[in-house]
Amino acid sequence: MQQSILILGACGQIGTELTLALRERYGNENVIASDIREGSDSLMNSGPFEILDATSYDAVEEIVMLYEVSEVYLMAAMLSATAEKFPERAWNLNMNSLFNVLNLAKENKIEKIFWPSSIAVFGKNTPKENTPQHTLMEPSTVYGISKQTGERWCAYYYSKYGVDVRSVRYPGLISWKTQPGGGTTDYAVEIYLQALEEGTYNCFLKEDTALPMMFMDDAIRAAIELMESEGEKLSIRSSYNLGAMSFTPGEIAWSIKNHLPEFSISYEPDFRQAIADSWPSSIDDSQARQDWGWQPEFDLEKTTAEMLKQLRTLN
Ligand SMILES: NC(=O)c1ccc[n+]([C@@H]2O[C@H](COP(=O)([O-])OP(=O)(O)OC[C@H]3O[C@@H](n4cnc5c(N)ncnc54)[C@H](O)[C@@H]3O)[C@@H](O)[C@H]2O)c1
Repeated sequence: MQQSILILGACGQIGTELTLALRERYGNENVIASDIREGSDSLMNSGPFEILDATSYDAVEEIVMLYEVSEVYLMAAMLSATAEKFPERAWNLNMNSLFNVLNLAKENKIEKIFWPSSIAVFGKNTPKENTPQHTLMEPSTVYGISKQTGERWCAYYYSKYGVDVRSVRYPGLISWKTQPGGGTTDYAVEIYLQALEEGTYNCFLKEDTALPMMFMDDAIRAAIELMESEGEKLSIRSSYNLGAMSFTPGEIAWSIKNHLPEFSISYEPDFRQAIADSWPSSIDDSQARQDWGWQPEFDLEKTTAEMLKQLRTLN
């Protein structure tokens, strides 16, 4: 029987592209998008959609039963910068939605879960360069604490109840189809839009703040490849380090100048600088490469060329 996939939080930055990619791969009718709000036309018009609150166990269970769902991709969350403003709401959303899907799998109502963690699980005492898979983790943000706790619960549900949950620690994600949702790395999307529209950008991080980043195509492919890989090969059931590129606002500005020589950038760091300072600059993802063959395709040059090309076609 064809598997049925449910995406919770499908209308966000990752969920939108993930839904479209999964529909192309598994068939439109087999991929059910859901969120607490409606999404883009391409998402709403290409397959089933349900308004669904991921924090309600009963509501998620009902949709799982209705569509005979076997796999859930949980993308609903409150991101790093927004979560600092609403700590309790962030905790409730990020943890309760995860427990709901873990418990559905524990009760054998679904077979497999994808849940993204983040580089926010690391803290200022973590080695910053080439951050190892296993290392000191003392997150200082509500978001990071929720992701680290989530990782431990994933590992626990796997070892205790055999729940097949799979996860990656996403770095900052760069995409052109959907706006980012309140993260600390949002600047790396805004900068391309502003470069084309205004020719200038005022960055909320300092010029030399290096952060790990990834182009959305790589991020979507990582999720699908991890979910399709053989379970026995996966040695990490908390969350895999995942890398692609690392750059500073100064470096991304230079890569844009190669295409738009008139582009200028200024710097006005805000509260997000402290969040960025607590995160790694680059990631060691050798375990993901070894276990399931992870290989990124987009570096900064390729990302800049693609972002500018695609954003130009939208205007
Ligand atoms: N975008 C990034 O750079 C990045 C980096 C690391 C990890 N992640 C993780 O990836 C996942 C998706 O991130 P994103 O960037 O797409 O986030 P986003 O904020 O763009 O999208 C989240 C979606 O969840 C929905 N949502 C909120 N509350 C909900 C609820 N109660 N029930 C159902 N849906 C609800 C929102 O409406 C939104 O459409 C999150 O777990 C996030 O922590 C993202």
